[in-house]
Amino acid sequence: MRQINLVAFLQAQNCTTLPASWRHPEARTDTYSPEYYQHIARVLEAGKFDIGFFDDRLAMPDMYSGDHAHTVQNGIRCVKMDPVTCLMTMAGVTEKLGFGATYSTSYYEPFHVARVFQTVDLMTRGRAAWNVVTSVNDNEARNMGRDGVIEHDTRYDRADEFLEAVLGHWDSWDDDAIVADKVNNLYAHPDKVRRLDYEGKFIKSRGPFTVPRSPQGHPVVIQAGQSGRGKQFAARWGELIFVVYPDIESGKQRYAELKASAAALGRDPDHMKITTLAYIMTGESQAEAEDKKAAYDKLTTDIDQLSLLSEALNFDFAAKGLDEAFSEEEIAGIQGMHALRDRVTSTGIKNPTVRDFMRITRRGLLNTKWIGGPKEIADMMEEWFTAPACDGFVIGPTHQPGSFEDFVKYVVPELQKRGIYRKDYSGTTLRDHLGLSKPAIGAWKTSADAAE
Ligand SMILES: Cc1cc2nc3c(=O)[nH]c(=O)nc-3n(C[C@H](O)[C@H](O)[C@H](O)COP(=O)(O)O)c2cc1C
Repeated sequence: MRQINLVAFLQAQNCTTLPASWRHPEARTDTYSPEYYQHIARVLEAGKFDIGFFDDRLAMPDMYSGDHAHTVQNGIRCVKMDPVTCLMTMAGVTEKLGFGATYSTSYYEPFHVARVFQTVDLMTRGRAAWNVVTSVNDNEARNMGRDGVIEHDTRYDRADEFLEAVLGHWDSWDDDAIVADKVNNLYAHPDKVRRLDYEGKFIKSRGPFTVPRSPQGHPVVIQAGQSGRGKQFAARWGELIFVVYPDIESGKQRYAELKASAAALGRDPDHMKITTLAYIMTGESQAEAEDKKAAYDKLTTDIDQLSLLSEALNFDFAAKGLDEAFSEEEIAGIQGMHALRDRVTSTGIKNPTVRDFMRITRRGLLNTKWIGGPKEIADMMEEWFTAPACDGFVIGPTHQPGSFEDFVKYVVPELQKRGIYRKDYSGTTLRDHLGLSKPAIGAWKTSADAAE
């Protein structure tokens, strides 16, 4: 029976994706201590989550007013640690929970990224995943020694080559290459380890790769781009896809479209799991959940949102008054997240103002429908899952660790009772949890060739 996949949305930073979260009265602020992450890991594994996934950006959000003072003062995602190091402290205290982290294809090298994640996969016995991002703003580029962000679609063209090189490296060792035969002094069969010699327009990487295959073959590839070019990229490479579907009707349609685009490239559409982002606030009852929402709403500030909008769209919103409109040139010139920009322009407002951007994107972020007691939340999740508008959910916390503790305490038992969510892990690897088979060497080439 089809089961819901659950992803926990994690941050190696001073707050969740919601800056107000650190101001929550119950929020822990020791967010740079191993105990903090280890506690969250134990809560998620007790809740039988598929994976804990760390998002990341290579800069604090200081585009707004071109200065980081507001970022640090308000604690707007100003601490950003290396996510892989944080997830390893969690992996050490868990056995089944999968772990994912974000690395950029625009500023890292494929050999490096392939080695980091294949090593995590071996050190966790097949529980790793890599979230492929192309990075969205100038300040990330400047931290990584560049002058500015790469043009939107070109970022994805480079990312296509990056994936070919990473998957090529991950396929360099056959599963049975290593024999470690001390008597005959044969460590590994030379004909079972290949050199890649990848050369593309943007990327080149020689090999041979230096890390053998893991119990699940190689890490799961995560992707979250939602623009036209982003979805093309997802159809070609994504095994676990993060989306933000605003409502069930558009969710059903876009879910079917994305699966169809993967099938059109010769991929098995069931070999792609689509999980939609939901910031769930729950408690004993609907009333208790609504009280929590009301308390949370008192914590949010406009500067939080204006700072994040500036970061995500690579545009300094401080340069405009709240009721000042964007010209069509300015809109067309945005090189940050196109899906976010398009969410505003698709409402039909020709020259949206700053206030329009705030109103429309706030609606997307904290969708008020995901507020309720165990039954209300499970009803909605079951409706989306069976529509189908998704294969599962990315659970976004409003504060840590309370949001996950509440979800595991109140909602997980209700989902298990309905038989739509696992009572216990049946396998050991992340692919087992997600229902993804172990990829054969070179399997990715089918869709890659079809996409050419
Ligand atoms: C749940 C979720 C997690 C994401 N995590 C990251 C992240 O860690 N780093 C990042 O740069 N973008 C992240 N994104 C944004 C996407 O990777 C992508 O940059 C964005 O959707 C813009 O892509 P587009 O220009 O193709 O629309 C995330 C999006 C979602 C829905």
